[in-house]
Parts: sequence; C-alpha cells; structure tokens
Amino acid sequence: MNAERLTREMVAKYSQPEELAAWRGIVAEGLAPHEAVYIERHFRPGERLLDIGCGGGRESIALSRRGFTVVGVDLVRELVAAAAAGARQSGAEASYAVMNAAALGFAPGRFDGVLMLAQVLACIPGRENRLRALAEARRVLRPGGRLVLTSHCRNSHWKYRLYFAVMDPLRRAGRALGLPLLESGDRFATVIGSAASRGRHYLHMYSRAEMARDLAAAGFRLVECHSRRDLRENRLDAPGRENDYYLIYAAEKAE
Ligand SMILES: C[S@@+](CC[C@H](N)C(=O)[O-])C[C@H]1O[C@@H](n2cnc3c(N)ncnc32)[C@H](O)[C@@H]1O
Repeated sequence: MNAERLTREMVAKYSQPEELAAWRGIVAEGLAPHEAVYIERHFRPGERLLDIGCGGGRESIALSRRGFTVVGVDLVRELVAAAAAGARQSGAEASYAVMNAAALGFAPGRFDGVLMLAQVLACIPGRENRLRALAEARRVLRPGGRLVLTSHCRNSHWKYRLYFAVMDPLRRAGRALGLPLLESGDRFATVIGSAASRGRHYLHMYSRAEMARDLAAAGFRLVECHSRRDLRENRLDAPGRENDYYLIYAAEKAE
C-alpha cells in the first residue's frame, strides 16, 4: 500500500467544506454516552488529556468544560482552526496544534491520558504506522497513564466478515507478488460522518483480538473493552461484545 497517498486522500476529504461544516456542526453534541462513561471510569477532572484526531473540537471542548486540561491535535489544518475558534467562542480553555499522531511534538510523560475517539487509529494506513502512533501515545503518557480509543469492529456484521473473507486472501496473494495492496482488515469508505463530500477514505477495521495484540505490541495493558450499545444500556457486565459495530477500549501504559 502507498500509505502516504492514502493519508493525503484522507486529508483532502476532511478538508472539504462539507466535512468541515459537519465536524463543526457536531461540537454541540459533546461527548457520546459511551465516551462519557469511559472518561469517568479512567480519568479525573484536572488531569491533562491529549485528544488525538480532535476534528472540529467536539470532545476537547466538552472535556475542557468538565475541568480537564486538554490539548487537541489533528492532521487537518482547517479542522484544527475550527476547533480553536469553537473553543474561543465558547470560553473553553483547550489548546490546539496541527500534528501527526505518528510524530507527536510533546515531551515524554506530559499527559495523564490520551484519547483517540471516533476511529482516529483506523484512519492511519498500515499496521506499522498504527503501531507507531500507539507508541507515540505511550511515549507522551506518564507512567500508569491511560489511552481510551474507539474502533469499528470487523466481526460485527456478516457483510464485513464476508468482505474480508474474500478480499484478505486476494490482497495477501497480490502483496506476495509485490503489488502495493491493502492489508488484512482494510477497506475504503466514502461517507464518514454526516457529510456528502467527494472521494474515498481509508479505514482499518479491527477485531477485538487484533486490537489487544496491537496495544500489547505498543507497550499497553488492555484494561477493558465494551461495545457502545452495552454502555448505552449501562451493561458494564457484558464486556467487549463483538456484535456491535462500535467498540471502546481503555489501555494503560505498561512498565
Ligand atoms: C472520524 S474523525 C473524528 C474527529 C473527532 N475525534 C470527533 O469525534 O468529532 C477522525 C479524525 O482523525 C484525524 N486523523 C486521522 N489520521 C490522523 C493522524 N495521523 N494524525 C492526526 N489526526 C489524524 C482526521 O483528520 C479526523 O479529524
């Protein structure tokens, strides 16, 4: 795969006016219920949080209102500008910077928590690059600091299982012949949030086991995983059901 080209495609998609309006438009929604549950379980107000892939500022502005000290970063310059303007207008004290998740410009141990909410890790093409981003998240966390992230689950629906059952072996065979094809669990989407923008967008769909493996490979201990539906229904006793499209994970920086 050509990861740089796929990243450029993603930035071009998120930079379109329709996307900017959509991501700015959801700022008023604040934290989704499953996000709010995990924020309360894993962080304390006053802690320093890094929001990677902050988009238009939805979660960073809400977190700043809840008493966290938040820094938001994103690859898309226009989204970072929109988030900063939104924070200023609403009196939130979050700060922002254009930055790549795989090369964070912060000192080691600077944050108590790192967030990658709404498929930020999934936007990063190539396992090697996702591991680099996870390693960066670990580096900027203090010892014992936690990472909370969400991901679409590739075992959640027969249509994804069928798609990957067909495509993964074909792509593997093509890669063995030297073709720059996508990896296992990769696909393209044309609609991300609510916007009808042009172009496609790379997405990696994790299985729960694969996420546990990648977190461990990057030096994290998986603390817990739930489905969005379980948390909406307050079912904390049903951990990590894979039949929900949307899973949330908390992991701790391992020694
Ligand atoms: C689906 S949006 C979610 C935005 C925001 N977290 C929210 O929920 O409103 C994913 C975001 O991740 C950002 N992103 C993707 N790859 C990134 C990378 N390598 N470094 C920083 N941000 C990235 C995108 O630009 C986009 O804003």
